[in-house]
Amino acid sequence: MNMRTRVGIIGAGPAGLLLSLLLAADGIDSVVLENRSREEIESTIRAGVLEQGTVDLMEELGLGERMQREGAIHHGIELRFDGEGHRIDFSTLTNGRGITLYAQHEVVKDCVAERLKQGGPIFFNVKDVHLYNVASDQPSIQFVHEDETIELQCDFIAGCDGFHGVARSSIPEAKQKIFTRSYPFGWLGILMQAPPSSKELIYAYHERGFALVSTRSPTLQRMYIQCDPLDAIENWSDAMILEELQARLESKDNWQLKVGPVSQKSILAMRSFVIEPMQYGRLFLAGDAAHIVPPTGAKGLNLAANDIRHLAHALTLYYKRNETDLLEAYSKTCLRRVWRAEHFSWWMTSMLHRFPDDDAFQQRMQRAQLEYTVSSQAASASLAENYVGLPFGW
Ligand code: PHB
Repeated sequence: MNMRTRVGIIGAGPAGLLLSLLLAADGIDSVVLENRSREEIESTIRAGVLEQGTVDLMEELGLGERMQREGAIHHGIELRFDGEGHRIDFSTLTNGRGITLYAQHEVVKDCVAERLKQGGPIFFNVKDVHLYNVASDQPSIQFVHEDETIELQCDFIAGCDGFHGVARSSIPEAKQKIFTRSYPFGWLGILMQAPPSSKELIYAYHERGFALVSTRSPTLQRMYIQCDPLDAIENWSDAMILEELQARLESKDNWQLKVGPVSQKSILAMRSFVIEPMQYGRLFLAGDAAHIVPPTGAKGLNLAANDIRHLAHALTLYYKRNETDLLEAYSKTCLRRVWRAEHFSWWMTSMLHRFPDDDAFQQRMQRAQLEYTVSSQAASASLAENYVGLPFGW
């Protein structure tokens, strides 16, 4: 079977879905392909911190209602070390700005529902996705859906299929440069049925390793501890995880971790990754397909939203006024913010984790950085402006 669309979008994560919605708002048709099922993408637990720019984008698309109702606005975070908490006050340091806690899979649910209401199309459970002629002005995607092979002719292809996706491999090796760093630790993440232990997120530096307290709702909490990236989750009983959390979050005041049943647990690897450029011919990469950050700065989803805003704008100008300047500038424009976020995420990660091979000098460096960050107005303002997100177009 043959089909035609203007923009073929590979991947129904936040990047692909937001792109299809922004294009639809400008009357540009697209087709979204996803290799997983709708149920799977709507239930995969990922991060949950939205910058104001990402919140604004959801609202522009008419998707603000549930996010306003169920999300929570936070005006600061706590950095905890040596048993003492230090608040980084986003409101005073960034002119009243903050972040919204709203899980990524909730963003995905809202976007899928809206796009299907508009008539889609979104093809779930596709297989054998191949890209053809991406360097020409008639690129196409071949895929299998319900045992039928479909040939999708496009003007442009958006590769929004994540780090393990197929889109990136259509860029010839000679035309790309990869920048990468892996970290000698992972995060063990859990969901716990308990009330929040803190009004704001707690990032803890401890000799036993990093710990993070985050939240999903008044009854469901999200927490992480640094662990060996090659460890198997079966080696961690719930009791062991709780013991580590309690030890690493120790506090000289009366603060106590509120505990309850653990309902989900998994280990994630940490890496930094960027491909340059983020475009080849008529293939444009966005989100995790083009760049990965370690989760310490909560930047992944927000970077994807930023890419998509630029890509949608560039495609709109192409279709409305036949202008190609923004399409040609896409990679350069996005990479400026990507590298800022890469640095911020690497910096937060380096400051807050214990490295297996670290020596006394490195530990003193971390402590000097932590003490400076929480006590200098300039240093805490720098953390705050990066955390809440630099303005769009920065
Ligand atoms: C989360 O809520 O899952 C979360 C929050 C902050 C991070 C990473 C993950 O830095």
